[in-house]
Amino acid sequence: MNFENPILVTGGAGFIGSNFIHYILRLQPEARIVNLDRLSYSGSLENLKDLPDPSRHTFVHGDIGDETLVEDLLRRHHIETLVHFAAETHVDRSIASPEAFIEANVVGTFRLLEACRRTWLPLAPERVRFHHVSTDEVYGDIGPEEPASTERDPYRPNSPYAASKAGADHLVRAYARTYGLPVTISNCSNNYGPRQFPEKLVPLMILNALEGSPLPIYGDGRQIRDWVLVDDHSSALIRILERGRPGETYHVGGGNQATNIELVRLLCAILDGVRPDSVHAPHSRLITHVADRPGHDRRYAMDTTKIRSELGWQPAHGLEHGLRETVRWYLDHTDWLGAIRDRPAYREWLKQNYAARQDLR
Ligand code: TYD
Repeated sequence: MNFENPILVTGGAGFIGSNFIHYILRLQPEARIVNLDRLSYSGSLENLKDLPDPSRHTFVHGDIGDETLVEDLLRRHHIETLVHFAAETHVDRSIASPEAFIEANVVGTFRLLEACRRTWLPLAPERVRFHHVSTDEVYGDIGPEEPASTERDPYRPNSPYAASKAGADHLVRAYARTYGLPVTISNCSNNYGPRQFPEKLVPLMILNALEGSPLPIYGDGRQIRDWVLVDDHSSALIRILERGRPGETYHVGGGNQATNIELVRLLCAILDGVRPDSVHAPHSRLITHVADRPGHDRRYAMDTTKIRSELGWQPAHGLEHGLRETVRWYLDHTDWLGAIRDRPAYREWLKQNYAARQDLR
């Protein structure tokens, strides 16, 4: 890819999208970004406050479902590369309110594809790229002894969230095959790092531990996830844009499998180390087992051989180091945390999701 024209990023005010923008502006002096985001509950302009070079970033408040707007942006900014992050992403919310996930992830992706098909294909299709950011959850549960998922495995999504992402992935693939749209897809494992909305496991646990609130572990806590630092995800995306073959899917993962309880214990130990005088230390005392998530997948695991061997990418951060850096970031950004924590939508969610989960101690 070249950096002559700006890249259109959708969902760039969210956790992973904003990290990608920080990352690429820092590392690619030529890169320019047009960022389309509707600023839903988890997106925030706070995430874009300290960009390395704000003059190379243009924010557009709008929806990926607005085809006229998207077509106008593609034309006006001469966009040839689009990276599609915009999505509803939280499994527990998808269980409580699935419709928003179908609307944003399936219908939203469809409308975006339509705008690209109409604008790009009559011009110079060999120059353009639609990159779709997806998840390991499309493969569903992997048994403890089963090999990790490869790019050729069948999709078996188990939550409305996973099903909506699977639907979006299939649409992207179909637009490549049917219309010849040059696409790439990445399926990534669980991300963690700075600016993650604290409804997800890692920031929720850090926040609760700092406040001395219970650390709610769903069920027995032996579910296994692979964890990747969000900077490593961004570096993989750039590698795919630079060297990935159109029509291909690439798995991205940190190579760090841990059970939820192991991960939370590690976070507690890190917090004990940086806050030895806290009245809440040892923080593991706050761990509380609560009612499990319905349909909770026991294990996700990604085989990342393809991106490693074909594109020469590998993650640069181990789990403990990445978590230490992440804890440090949250401790240094209490203003960011405060702004998010005070939002009524966040407080509402905590009540809705946790009040009903009975304490299993
Ligand atoms: P989450 O961060 O919601 O990501 P995902 O469901 O996409 O993997 O959850 C990560 C794991 O942590 C998942 O197995 C559910 C579990 N979990 C808890 O045990 N307690 C919590 O309060 C949350 C939010 C998640």
